Amino acid sequence: MTIQNKKIVLLPGDGIGPEIVRVAVRVLKDCAAQFGHQFEFAEFPFGGSGIDAAGEPLPGETLAACRAADAILLGAVGGPNWDAQPIGKRPESGLLALRKALDLYINLRPIDLRASLGSLSPLRAERATNVHIDFVRELAGDIYFGAHRVEADPSGERATDEAVYTTAEVERISKYAFARAKARTGRLTSIDKANVLSTSQLWRRTVTRMSADHPGVKLDHMYVDNAAMQLVLAPAQFDVILTSNMFGDILSDLGAALAGSIGLIPSMSAGLGPSLYEPIHGSAPTLAGKDVANPAGTILSASMMLRESFGLTREAQWIESAVDRLFLKGIRTPDIAEPGTTKVGCNEFGEKLLAEMAASEQRQSTVS
Ligand code: NAD
Ligand code: IPM
Ligand code: MN
Repeated sequence: MTIQNKKIVLLPGDGIGPEIVRVAVRVLKDCAAQFGHQFEFAEFPFGGSGIDAAGEPLPGETLAACRAADAILLGAVGGPNWDAQPIGKRPESGLLALRKALDLYINLRPIDLRASLGSLSPLRAERATNVHIDFVRELAGDIYFGAHRVEADPSGERATDEAVYTTAEVERISKYAFARAKARTGRLTSIDKANVLSTSQLWRRTVTRMSADHPGVKLDHMYVDNAAMQLVLAPAQFDVILTSNMFGDILSDLGAALAGSIGLIPSMSAGLGPSLYEPIHGSAPTLAGKDVANPAGTILSASMMLRESFGLTREAQWIESAVDRLFLKGIRTPDIAEPGTTKVGCNEFGEKLLAEMAASEQRQSTVS
């Protein structure tokens, strides 16, 4: 077994961010102890907490630490305290600035309807079977990063948001999506609005041209409005979904609802440097400080870090199988509680998960 020495930067952020990151860090620490790895953690202010501590959502020291890290674990940013801030000075602007600075152009959001959560999906059972979709969302371009302007207008104001994509930007994210599809069942659905938008026409032309180099992957195109409907009516038709920044943001929340709760879904944002791992949900201000948030999306983001950034497959499986066993035993945070299950808080979910992980270690050592 190769022992790994890794520097992990923690950005707990705002709202429920600190509570869920705390639980995920305990899981990573137990994992390091169990497998003999050295994980070094360093925490930095980011988002609203960056504004409060250093006057900006992405303080220079935070960015420098992220650049030097082996991987980054983020909770969530934003909240009512900073909602009056203009674009550019908001907590969310810090997240966009970090994605841009590290050129995190790949955002992988796996939507798995876990067998261990049985009937949790709002879909009827026959539609909710065999749904494992990998969303590959472009993360460093589109309307997010074009110019945002507000001017005077006779009626009051006139606001503009520019959406931009270049061939190179579409090519690099498509390359990742084709590779991901090839490693799975070989089906790739590219989602756009090519009947209306010129960015989408460039997107479709580029993805179509690239499919000639990937004969093992069956490529389909779908308009985003139909895709929203198909995800609800027949989600099992999808394997890997490739889409632009804005459409990917919206559709992956829809996907999370199919899984039963947005609190369950992890993500990886990757580029050429260190990758960033975070649950896809936000700071859930109404839950903050109440110890009720679901930490599973953050825990599964941490296990994704082990697998994707460090190549620690066995360690990731150790965590993920314990999460599934906990769900099967009916240990549930309020967002995923069902009749007959045991409702626990964020912290207690973490405690019970650590015990479950330790129990599986004992079983393994008894067997060997
Ligand atoms: P949200 O994801 O915070 O919440 C949406 C709904 O899901 C709420 O009902 C919330 O209570 C619930 N929810 C979210 N996470 C949960 C969890 N772990 N466990 C249980 N329930 C959970 O989205 P929002 O309300 O639209 O936004 C709140 C703030 O978060 C805003 O400031 C927004 O900009 C920000 N935001 C940040 C990120 C991020 O940091 N990556 C992502 C999305 C939204
Ligand atoms: C997400 C969030 C962010 C996004 C916001 C907070 C900038 O919604 O990560 O899904 O829109 O990308
Ligand atoms: Mn989002």
